[in-house]
Amino acid sequence: MQDKNKIIILAELDGKLVGSCEITRDNYDVSRHVGTLGIGISKGYRGIGIGTKLIKQTLSEAKKLGIKLVKLYVFDSNNVGKSIYEEFGFTETGRIPKGIHHNKKYKDDIIMVKRL
Ligand SMILES: CC(C)(COP(=O)(O)OP(=O)(O)OC[C@H]1O[C@@H](n2cnc3c(N)ncnc32)[C@H](O)[C@@H]1OP(=O)(O)O)[C@@H](O)C(=O)NCCC(=O)NCCS
Repeated sequence: MQDKNKIIILAELDGKLVGSCEITRDNYDVSRHVGTLGIGISKGYRGIGIGTKLIKQTLSEAKKLGIKLVKLYVFDSNNVGKSIYEEFGFTETGRIPKGIHHNKKYKDDIIMVKRL
């Protein structure tokens, strides 16, 4: 699914929706070249390559739409997420100390970016 401001790619397995990845273009005139990526794979379907495929395809579609910079946010404790993003060339550019409250603990929220 896509329009000029958003791409959403869904993953279906055995007739079930098991994951999605999206990139949404910024609304402001000064940052229309920037998109924000979000992804989630259902429990039980992680670690079998779905996330990698979805990110690859979503980045490729974003590039076609003229998005030049993709940013994302990831919990500091999410080592699987961080390593996947690094493999795609995302690098940490910022960190919001204690920006996340999850499972009764404060965690840093990491900002990563990649140029397309
Ligand atoms: C992070 C997430 C999107 C990754 O998607 P995925 O489909 O599980 O990832 P893949 O199967 O494509 O694996 C990608 C890499 O991570 C590794 N990986 C995946 N799950 C792993 C696990 N539980 N432990 C260690 N490594 C793991 C894979 O081995 C692979 O590495 P490789 O390319 O070197 O072999 C998914 O696990 C998820 O939705 N997690 C919970 C929500 C979340 O973290 N969302 C992102 C928030 S920013």
